[in-house]
Amino acid sequence: MIFTVAVDGPAAAGKGTISRAVAAEFGFAHLDTGLLYRAVGVVSEARAADPAQVARSLTPEDLARDDLRSLAAGDAASRVAVIPAVRAALVDFQRSFARRAGGAVLDGRDIGTVICPEAEVKLFVTASAEARAHRRWLEVGGDAAQVLAEVRARDERDMNRAEAPLRPAADAVLLDTTDLSVAEAVARAAALIRARL
Ligand code: C5P
Repeated sequence: MIFTVAVDGPAAAGKGTISRAVAAEFGFAHLDTGLLYRAVGVVSEARAADPAQVARSLTPEDLARDDLRSLAAGDAASRVAVIPAVRAALVDFQRSFARRAGGAVLDGRDIGTVICPEAEVKLFVTASAEARAHRRWLEVGGDAAQVLAEVRARDERDMNRAEAPLRPAADAVLLDTTDLSVAEAVARAAALIRARL
């Protein structure tokens, strides 16, 4: 069975949590595409290398680095994500993952719009910037005001770039998680998938 669930939305809206949960529930494979951009950002900075070249030769070791979850890595990711040659280098891998046999959930920014416009289910997961910054702060700690400023800066960069900007696909279902528990958000996503299986 070929069945793709595209989950897009801004930083810390709950995409990853929802994607992991529904992938487990339906037995689908899951790809966190942000990790690809994080690895390209961090590795190209560490080696002072051309990000497009790094994107073309990403290794499993690059993706397994333990510093990819930091705020700095998210920032580095969104800076290399504006480069068309970086995005182009990552397209084929993501598309074949999306259409692999057995079903797949991909979360990112452009899955429903660019990577897999034919996805059977498209979700656009959002939450207020304050709610998202608070969740990120619970994970990473530090100065709350600075976390909020970084979340806003990243939204701004992701929404306003020329190449594959963050926006909902015309046929995406919006899921605002500001006032939802994790269980409620997952249940809504799962109900949508079940209805289209
Ligand atoms: O989702 P995550 O916070 O890990 O993504 C890090 C950054 O990678 C995003 O802010 C965005 O700039 C970029 N990204 C992207 N397209 C994707 C996934 C992530 O441009 N499909």
